[in-house]
Amino acid sequence: MSDTLFIVLAAGEGTRMRSSRPKVMHKIAGMPMLGHALHAARAAFPGARFCVVVGPGMDTVADYAREHADGCAVAVQSERLGTAHAVLQARASIEAGDWRRIIVLYGDTPLIRPESLSALAGSIDGGASVAVLGFRPEDPHGYGRLVIEAGRLVRIVEEKDASPEERAIGFCNSGVVGFDGRIALQLLDAIGNDNAKGEYYLTDAVAGAVAAGLRASAVEAEANEVLGVNTRGELARAEALAQTRYRAAAMAAGVTLIDPSSVYFSHDTVIGRDVVIEPNVFFGEGVTVGAGTTIHGFSHIAGADIGEDADIGPFARLRPGAKIGKEARIGNFVEVKNAVFEAGAKANHLSYIGDAHVGEKANIGAGTITCNYDGRNKHKTDIGAGAFIGSNSALVAPVRIGKGAYVGSGSVITEDVSDGALAIGRGRQVEKPGRAPKPKI
Ligand code: UD1
Ligand code: MG
Repeated sequence: MSDTLFIVLAAGEGTRMRSSRPKVMHKIAGMPMLGHALHAARAAFPGARFCVVVGPGMDTVADYAREHADGCAVAVQSERLGTAHAVLQARASIEAGDWRRIIVLYGDTPLIRPESLSALAGSIDGGASVAVLGFRPEDPHGYGRLVIEAGRLVRIVEEKDASPEERAIGFCNSGVVGFDGRIALQLLDAIGNDNAKGEYYLTDAVAGAVAAGLRASAVEAEANEVLGVNTRGELARAEALAQTRYRAAAMAAGVTLIDPSSVYFSHDTVIGRDVVIEPNVFFGEGVTVGAGTTIHGFSHIAGADIGEDADIGPFARLRPGAKIGKEARIGNFVEVKNAVFEAGAKANHLSYIGDAHVGEKANIGAGTITCNYDGRNKHKTDIGAGAFIGSNSALVAPVRIGKGAYVGSGSVITEDVSDGALAIGRGRQVEKPGRAPKPKI
């Protein structure tokens, strides 16, 4: 049984996103914001349990949460009466365990770092009944201010309830608040709504704890990691900050990025050592790149597994199911989908290779197309090891090209080609002497 419960608030509709999709399902680096929050929590506490609080009708959020956090509970907040009210919708989860710590996260704060969650937990373990993750924004307007007296956090005052002196405080509430699990429910149940907004403020738990003779604490985080996303502009800002982190991590792990700012990673991109990535490369979800490979500029890669010392692009498009072997080469304007290139196989120029297997060291000439789709079904093309496919050939699947076979340029291949055979499937060239139009000069 785990000792840490995370309550993730995701009931916000996100009106300012102007979207038909719930706010926390908008993606950063290919993963919904909610997923980032769950990830960070799990990275800090691998066995953590979760309860996600959603708004009415947010089934996509509930489904996502259940799918991505094992045993995740979902609570519905049918009326938005404030952050403490939202947290209390998780009452059943709070009561279900003997929690050492309960930590509240926002589903729209995707950049939170596991280290900060660990620090917050450390403060609770050190004796704080309530621990708040604070930060110093450039502009504190709109945030709850952390009131520190004699070095101790004594209360949080919301912008609308604050005096001018309190508004001058630069240390603010990020929204991430941790509780000693033994006392959490008692503190939450004691919160009222007698304030400027008439809402149940989670932040009042601090004053409540202090009044009960308990200790509250503030732990400082970087402003960037607690950026909340309310608009598409903030979504783009969070994306940029996330990309900066992924780029730095890639370089620290031994990857060369010639122009880091133009390379876009997915949350799950795995890149080996001594990979060189040229400018303007985009990684979608599910990509691994083996050591020593070069990805040339303007390549778009998603769902692809690239081996070691391969050479990709420029202008390559690798789609899901592409598996590129060691020292294989996918050149410019080549699209690969659901196809295996064994070691040393090559498609250097202008091709579409889909639903195919390309044997070791086979060479696919410029302009070759696998005709994999007949309008209803997809069919497979099997190209044997060492085969040579002449330029501008159409391989009409299902079809098999034997090992070491040779297909003449411009062929339309509709029947299997035997191992070692030469296949030519095109109109014969004819010559009519003297029949060219007379030159006009
Ligand atoms: C809250 C904090 C404030 C902090 C700020 C950080 C309180 C009272 N105030 O203010 O101290 O500086 O966040 O961004 O806690 N939510 C629900 N149900 C509700 C109300 C809110 O799920 O009934 C969710 C929202 O979707 C959002 C989060 O809780 O993800 C914060 O709510 P919001 O209304 O943005 O609170 P703020 O006024 O910004
Ligand atoms: Mg807010």
